[in-house]
Order: sequence, then C-alpha cells, then structure tokens
Amino acid sequence: MMLLFMLVSIFRAAFSNEWANKKDGKFILNKPNISPQVLKIILRFIYCAKIDLTELQGPEILNLLIAVDELNVQTLIQCIREYLIKHQCDFLQQNAIEIFETAYQNEAFTDIWNYCFDKICEKPAVLLDKFINLKEPLLELLLKRDDLLLDEVVVWDNLIKWSFARHPSIQQNVKKWNKEEITIMRRTLHKFNPLIRFYHITSEDFILKVDPFKALLPEDIIDNLLAFHMNSNKELNIDLHPPRMPKYDSNIINGSYFAILSSWIEKKNHFYYNERNIPYNFNLLYRASRDGDTHTDFHIKCDKKGATMVVIKIKDSEQIVGGYNPLDWNSSNLWVSAKDSFLFSFTEKNNLQSAKVGYSNNNKYSIGFFSDHGVVFGTDLYFYEGNWHSYRDDTHSYPKIGIPGKIFEVDDFEIFQVVKK
Ligand SMILES: *[C@@H]1O[C@H](CO)[C@@H](O)[C@H](O)[C@H]1NC(C)=O
Ligand SMILES: *[C@@H]1O[C@H](CO)[C@@H](O)[C@H](O)[C@H]1NC(C)=O
Repeated sequence: MMLLFMLVSIFRAAFSNEWANKKDGKFILNKPNISPQVLKIILRFIYCAKIDLTELQGPEILNLLIAVDELNVQTLIQCIREYLIKHQCDFLQQNAIEIFETAYQNEAFTDIWNYCFDKICEKPAVLLDKFINLKEPLLELLLKRDDLLLDEVVVWDNLIKWSFARHPSIQQNVKKWNKEEITIMRRTLHKFNPLIRFYHITSEDFILKVDPFKALLPEDIIDNLLAFHMNSNKELNIDLHPPRMPKYDSNIINGSYFAILSSWIEKKNHFYYNERNIPYNFNLLYRASRDGDTHTDFHIKCDKKGATMVVIKIKDSEQIVGGYNPLDWNSSNLWVSAKDSFLFSFTEKNNLQSAKVGYSNNNKYSIGFFSDHGVVFGTDLYFYEGNWHSYRDDTHSYPKIGIPGKIFEVDDFEIFQVVKK
C-alpha cells in the first residue's frame, strides 16, 4: 500500500506538465536536477526499501536529497538529512557556502542549512572569496549574526566591495564620485549600515577604511563616530552593539568565562585567551533543568563523550563552581588519577577577577566513575542522591578554592563536551 502510494505520488510529480513533455506518444522527462543514477537509487529504495548511503560521496548525497525533495519522498528526506548531519560534517563544512546559497528557504533543508550557516559564522575564512557574490537577503542574514567571527573592519571592507560589485560602472575612486554615484551607492548600503558595528572598528582602521566613504553614511553616525574616536571619555548617546563573538549555549556563563576555562585547560594564566580566540568548542551535553537532575540522566547524556566541563550555579549565592574532566565519563565503578583535571570557583559571578582554579594533585582519587553517582571530583566536589557535596578529608585531591562545605543546593548545572577546534 505504502509502495503504491509513493509510486503514484512520484509518477504524478514526474509526469506533471511542468516536468514532462509528451512527444510522439512518449513522455520525455526534463528534470535536469535528477540524474538517471539518482533516479535509480530512489526507485531501488521504493522497490526494495533499501538504501546504502555509505557508498555515496557528499555531493551525490546532496543531489539525492534535492531529488527526493522534488519528488516529495518524505521518508527518504528525513533519513538522508540525518545521515548527512551525522556522517558528512566535512562535506557540509567544505560546501557550506554553496549549501547556504542553494538551500536557502527550502524547508526540507532547514536543519542542514542552519548547520552550514553556523559553520560559516564560526569559520568565516571560507566566505571571503565568495562574499561579493552573495545574494542580498543572505548577506543581510549574515551581517545580523552576533557570532560572525570576522573583524568588523573586514566586514565593512567586504561590504564596500560587494556594493561596488553590484554597480560595475561606478568608479573606484571615491573622491571623483558625482551626485548620482553617491546616491546609487547610498541606496545600496542603506539597509546594511545599521548592521555594521562601527564602534568596534579601531580609530586607525576607521580613518583608513571608513572615513573615505563617509558620504555613504548618515550624518549622525559619522558625527558620533568621530566624537567617539576623538574623545572616548565623553558620554555619548549611542547604541553600542556588542562586538561579534562566538555564541554559547549556557544559561550560567558567557564567552568571557569560556575563555578563562580554556586558558585553564592549557594551564595558562586566567586571561590568556579572550572571547574571540577560544581554541575549543564547548558543546552542551546536559543541563539539569532540561534533562533531569539524577545520576542516571547524567550518565545517559555524558558517558563516552570525551573531555567535559561541569558548570554549577550555587543557590542563593553569587558563586559559580565546577570542574574539568579530561577523560570520558563512564559507569565502571573505578577511581582514576587525572593530573590535568581541575576544579574552579568564581565567588562573584559578575567579577571575573574572583576566579580561582585548583589542579588535581594526581592522587588516585582525582575522578570517580560510579554508576550510582553523577559527577565525582574526588571528595572535593561530587553529585550523589540528588545533591551536590564537598568534603575535605584526608584523601582530598584538589587544593582548597572555596567550594561550600558538605551539602549545597544549586540553581542549575550544565556539562559541556570540550573539543579542540
Ligand atoms: C572508564 O574510564 C576510565 C578512565 O578513562 C578507564 O580507565 C576505564 O577503562 C573506563 N571503563 C570503561 C568500562 O570504559
Ligand atoms: C560575561 O559576564 C561577565 C560578568 O558579568 C562580564 O564582565 C563580561 O563582560 C561578560 N562577557 C561577555 C562577552 O558578555
């Protein structure tokens, strides 16, 4: 029944007027997107309910996806989408721009498109050679992103090149522009100006790269920018967008904390890394308020995921504590020594200077892997029977950094997988 239904819907689509011409009593399919090879794969799936995606390369899988989308074979769309995201990360990353452009506003591709969009923002080097050819709505989406990791002056510079590329007849020498040229370029830039974070361009770059184009900017922006660069102490009534930086899926800490935690992972001083050069991805694996705060939920989400960072917001307090485990969590009921593991504390959450870190003394109780516990960092910080504990007994494994004693209550806690970029 299912088979018949799919076949009917495919052939109905395939032989609709749009797709096929009838010539000499034969249907000629004119669907250049769908190669005979792809059609064969789809038909094999429909007849045998079997498909082996592992034999296909990334671009072939993408073509297949485009084809099954056109043919509207829903079961296949879902299965290919999941497969692509799971197994073809490299392919998606290498072709992020093409996918970003071709899959825009195609519902079947939403998650793949979002994935590529995130990757472009995270590693925008791939974007630069293609920047001037971007379609306007895509450029607008891109410039809106707070996590597009380009220097603002680079964004501006490319936006100017992009505007020139729209109007090849306009001369490059700005000083010689006539009124009409200024009007055309102004109109092209108009909707993008508010998306540029001019206040995060240094004064040197500003003079070199922005000032020559001041005829294109609204006067109040120019006045405010000049005042800002000439006298940074003056109170200015301006809308300061935050600088662009990576986004983090945390309800407890922001990028500045992740920069400090990254410095500690490498045993460097607190402020060695900043928000913009963090060398790790922190992927949220578990959030107690979302995933359930039992040791079972923890093991389901966090076992066998590699190095992790635990972040805990203590209740009725300004304090944030946590720890880093460089090893895979598991449920083997063992104690293990781990010389790179550490505990940390920020006594006042609004004061990054209140940061403290303590590395394991490498005794055999650094990390505990217990099926009936959650996170265990020695006896210094552990989760048992729904509560957080900290005891300083003879076997302690970390220096004292001010984690509250005995049992304490928390607002929430999060665990991130730590992956080198
Ligand atoms: C659990 O992790 C520890 C530390 O990495 C390791 O020694 C042990 O073999 C692991 N056990 C299992 C069952 O994976
Ligand atoms: C993160 O929070 C700290 C403390 O409140 C603050 O000082 C810092 O500016 C924030 N960083 C970012 C990137 O928002």
